[in-house]
Amino acid sequence: MPDGLPTEIDLTRPSAARVYDYFLGGAHNFEIDRQLAEQIASMTPNLAATMRSGRDFLRRAVRVLLDAGIDQFLDIGSGIPTVGNVHEVAQGANPKAQVVYVDIDPVAVAHSRDLLAGNELTGVIHADLREPERILAETRQLGLIDFSRPMGILLAGVVHFIPDADRPDDILATLRAAAAPGSFLVISHSTFEDQPQEMLDAQRLSARTATEITLRSRAQITGFFGDWTVVDPGVVHMPLWRPDSPSDVDEHPERFGAFGGVARYDQPGG
Ligand SMILES: C[S@@+](CC[C@H](N)C(=O)[O-])C[C@H]1O[C@@H](n2cnc3c(N)ncnc32)[C@H](O)[C@@H]1O
Repeated sequence: MPDGLPTEIDLTRPSAARVYDYFLGGAHNFEIDRQLAEQIASMTPNLAATMRSGRDFLRRAVRVLLDAGIDQFLDIGSGIPTVGNVHEVAQGANPKAQVVYVDIDPVAVAHSRDLLAGNELTGVIHADLREPERILAETRQLGLIDFSRPMGILLAGVVHFIPDADRPDDILATLRAAAAPGSFLVISHSTFEDQPQEMLDAQRLSARTATEITLRSRAQITGFFGDWTVVDPGVVHMPLWRPDSPSDVDEHPERFGAFGGVARYDQPGG
């Protein structure tokens, strides 16, 4: 673990970010996280592949945004910077690309700060997606993202941590309202649609992490894009979203348990 690990870390409960890090092959996790990860993995052997599929979807989506000229990214629920971080993909294509990472997990934030020390085009914010105004205010304070220009808002594998009671539609509306025309929104989100019982059982285990997962339908997830234009191929099982090669697509893309989609904010009336 890096020096200066925050003292508020709760080591008595597994953390979603550290369980995810374990599944991605990272080293930033504790025994309590590995135990839960192994328990989930024994119930759903496909889950590690699901997690990697999520990171792959995010990488492909960021590339599409870069091709569209996006050079600034607000990545909320960014996780522990393990394999294929957004800034690596973005700055690999455009060395001037700016990335602000936001996560609720103090371990994810500590590791992000550690890894990004010296990278002046990136910033890290410790905040909760349920406080979008605060995230926007702190992002403005960092001065890395110019809100008058198009940006990419990335919400990969995070909105399912927001229960309906916390009004995810309002949170999304607040974030969309802060973006300039030409901006993009990327969402991947776990679903109950087309899922076997074992996947639904594993979801129940997520109640043991600090944040439980709410599985949603394709229609609900599509609703998070509001009136923005969903780009091809729409909101689909993640491996089906612009695969690098048709041979990358699993025979059962629904097995990965989540939908992914990207939408663009077209100029009203334009
Ligand atoms: C499944 S990981 C996804 C990581 C990364 N976005 C990706 O797709 O590879 C979900 C991340 O969301 C974070 N998270 C969960 N609830 C959150 C909240 N309310 N606000 C901000 N981050 C949250 C977790 O700490 C974790 O790091």
